[in-house]
Amino acid sequence: MLSAIIVAAGSSQRMGFDKLFALLGDKPVVAHTLDAFERTECVDEIILVGREDRLAELQELVRRASLKKIGHVVSGGVHRQDSVRAGLNLLAPDARYVAVHDAARPLVTAEQIGRVFEEARAHGAAALAEPITDTLKRGDENRFVCGGVDRAGLYAMQTPQIFSRDLLVEAYDAVAAKKLSITDEVSAVEQLGAKVLLVPNDEFNLKITYPRDLLLAQSFLSRRPSP
Ligand code: CTP
Ligand code: MG
Repeated sequence: MLSAIIVAAGSSQRMGFDKLFALLGDKPVVAHTLDAFERTECVDEIILVGREDRLAELQELVRRASLKKIGHVVSGGVHRQDSVRAGLNLLAPDARYVAVHDAARPLVTAEQIGRVFEEARAHGAAALAEPITDTLKRGDENRFVCGGVDRAGLYAMQTPQIFSRDLLVEAYDAVAAKKLSITDEVSAVEQLGAKVLLVPNDEFNLKITYPRDLLLAQSFLSRRPSP
């Protein structure tokens, strides 16, 4: 069984307003994200982690969209990793695999989720990632170029990231014990020395962060054939 934890408890500081409730076409960002997981055949259960002060609205959104796979709508924590932890605490007993996904990535597709799951089943851990295409430079404290970084073999990490449940829970326990600060699950699992397969994504799966991202996502969605 595959359970998906959708983390939606952030404070949208760089956006300046709650980005997850911003409309993309006919529905809010978070509704697009939930729809993608609802549509994905291999996903059995969805745990939605939201801000305490928006839980009622999230519950209403789930009800209106008739999402059948939502098992829990629960409040998150101060940091993203606390929100993931809140989701992990509610996993169904027979969840063998866990997907973690940013609610702020509404363009994710069922095909991408399925592809990452297949690799997670084969390797225990897999994450969607985008090969870096820009030239990378390091800047000194005065912002002058002070060196380059070879981009060969570098990836920007995305979500979903999917793991065997035991591995992810052990990784999160280790992170808590060592009081580490992490921004994704791969970083947690790396601490254990476990292998994680990168699943290259050459499609658009941007994380809505700044107002310009809403325009981009909107334009992309209006051109994409509906699933
Ligand atoms: N997130 C979360 N709980 C937190 C922080 C973040 O569930 N305490 C979620 C966000 O809702 C988002 C995802 O993690 O879906 C990725 O985080 P990010 O894009 O950084 O969103 P925010 O933290 O909301 O934005 P900002 O950093 O600009 O405040
Ligand atoms: Mg953040």
